[in-house]
Amino acid sequence: MASQIHFLDIKGKPLLSRDYKGDIPPNTIEKFPMLLLELENTIDDGEYKPFINDQGINYIFINHNNLYICALTRKNENIMTIIIFLSKMIDVMTQYFKSLEEESIRDNFVIIYELLDEMMDFGIVQTTDFKILKEYITQDYYSLIKSTPTHLVAPPNALTNAVSWRKDGISYKKNEAFLDVVESINMLITAKGQVLNSEILGEIKIKSHLSGMPDLRLGLNDKGIFTSNNNGAGGENGASNSGKNVEMEDIKFHQCVRLSKFENEKIITFIPPDGEFTLMSYRLSLAQFLSKPLILVDCKTKMHKHSRIEIVCTVRAQIKKKSTANNVEVIIPIPDDADSPKFNPEYGSVKWIPEKSCLVWKLKTFPGGKLFTMSAELGLPAVMDDTENILSKKPIKVNFSIPYFTTSGIQVRYLRINEPKLQYQSYPWVRYITKSGEDYIVRTR
Ligand SMILES: *[C@@H]1O[C@H](CO)[C@@H](O)[C@H](O)[C@H]1NC(C)=O
Repeated sequence: MASQIHFLDIKGKPLLSRDYKGDIPPNTIEKFPMLLLELENTIDDGEYKPFINDQGINYIFINHNNLYICALTRKNENIMTIIIFLSKMIDVMTQYFKSLEEESIRDNFVIIYELLDEMMDFGIVQTTDFKILKEYITQDYYSLIKSTPTHLVAPPNALTNAVSWRKDGISYKKNEAFLDVVESINMLITAKGQVLNSEILGEIKIKSHLSGMPDLRLGLNDKGIFTSNNNGAGGENGASNSGKNVEMEDIKFHQCVRLSKFENEKIITFIPPDGEFTLMSYRLSLAQFLSKPLILVDCKTKMHKHSRIEIVCTVRAQIKKKSTANNVEVIIPIPDDADSPKFNPEYGSVKWIPEKSCLVWKLKTFPGGKLFTMSAELGLPAVMDDTENILSKKPIKVNFSIPYFTTSGIQVRYLRINEPKLQYQSYPWVRYITKSGEDYIVRTR
């Protein structure tokens, strides 16, 4: 029906948006305030027109409590149907929040996104479905919040055959689901700090401690991941992209995910296996996606032939000030036959690992924006071959992890857990982490 639905303030600034189809560019709604002004100048006083067509896009809107609720469509839809849908939607939300206004939207982002998914999910194109919809949503949501854990009943046998990856009769005292979004970053960085190549390998991992046959619904943000013409993803940190399109490649789901549901509606629903599993993996690769390294390393090596080697190394965390990189390890190659090392780190500690011919400079916590320097000196044997050449081929590796942060911009909006028979209260937990992949590499020359 509608491609996008937007809630806007009285000036036409978007408060909350849901993209259902991805067939209209995300910034199209920015034209709405101007189109609204034009419309007001062309219609007579007291006349009401809830509809604007501009460049093949229909803006269908309702004005309510100093808000505009606006649906965008590309096709020639029945405008009245959409108007009725929007007004029914306002009814439902008013029942939830007592009054639908700017403040209640800001306070209820998560619930509103969930409701929006439910309503379209229920194909509310037919207004006659409203009763069913209303019943479903009120029941469902409130039962999730208010119900206290009841004693657990065994699930009926009828359910069990359909789900080969989960046995029946699973029971937990406390029903919890832990969701981790883990992104591993691989980067090839020149000695001058220029990114030649970058890649994000993402995984959504779940540890499920849930009784019975729970049905889970995962709502992700529209931005960054599932839309192909997106300019804004990854801008969470200082190392934002350079405005290139971001496309997710190689999305793989665990067998429990209903693929048709995802393909049609971009909603991830599943009955999880018990315990730990990877729900989904994805890859983002774009040379220019990250224009700056997250951890920048600048290492200068000075060889004094037949006597010693001097190393001066600087690291900078190019992430947001309030972010922190943890367990940063800068692994610096040194000649095989170097000995008697001396280190002078401004911060952290340095270890010599002779069997791996490297120095490891470790910084346990590394706040965003900070810069630290380390200098080292090692002895070289008087007789030696072309160490310099061997050394120049070995790159520096960096290990790190950054909690509470994803580089792609992927975000979990909600994880809804529903066990139709047991109706227990459950607790979803979500964590984010970005870490170095196997190949976060800085060339030394
Ligand atoms: C760095 O990370 C890799 C895995 O990516 C690990 O094998 C290695 O032990 C870590 N630390 C050092 C000092 O190599």
